[in-house]
Amino acid sequence: MRTVEELLANNSAWAEAVTTQDPYFFQRLTGQQTPAYLWIGCSDSRVPATQLVGLLPGEMFVHRNVANIVAHTDFNCLSVLQYAVEVLQVDHIIVCGHYRCGGIHAALHSHHLGLIDNWLQHVQDVRRKHASRLAACGDTDEEERRLSELNVIEQVVNVSQTTIVQKAWLRGQQLTVYGWIYGVEDGLLRDLQIRVSGLENLDEQYTRAVELVR
Ligand code: CO
Repeated sequence: MRTVEELLANNSAWAEAVTTQDPYFFQRLTGQQTPAYLWIGCSDSRVPATQLVGLLPGEMFVHRNVANIVAHTDFNCLSVLQYAVEVLQVDHIIVCGHYRCGGIHAALHSHHLGLIDNWLQHVQDVRRKHASRLAACGDTDEEERRLSELNVIEQVVNVSQTTIVQKAWLRGQQLTVYGWIYGVEDGLLRDLQIRVSGLENLDEQYTRAVELVR
């Protein structure tokens, strides 16, 4: 493990390397940020949002929590969403889950990890809602993968049902919500084929995406 002093030294080296390649890089970022994307992902250290989609600082607004959950009572997530949609005016919201997620694993096996069990009840809700689909899985590994995918789809719906996103659509703001899942074992993103760009296509997109989970 590296010491925290080494992390600070790494930072100096990184800033220097970036500046060598592009002398005005940081200067350009000094003004207002104008990211086109909001990423809602898991806190997992193996899923570094900006890095895995090849974006640079300034290009993506990010919110992360355990198991990439969007709860309508979570003012942290709602504040990020409101700021991204109304102030930064992002065009795309990506909800990204990942396979081998500790939060999904714990929820699926009802492991008791402490306070976080309460947070993971949101995943338990997804599990209960799709119990019959999950029961049809061959083994628990597959069940975990399917639950990870279904959790993303449900969180896309949750984003779409916030007053923030609904009001944006009513105003005629162009805004699309996507559901993706990342494989920590191969570094690849998979599109879960859900793309919600207005209230009118939410149900159809949801039903279709859930059907594709198998
Ligand atoms: Co995770």
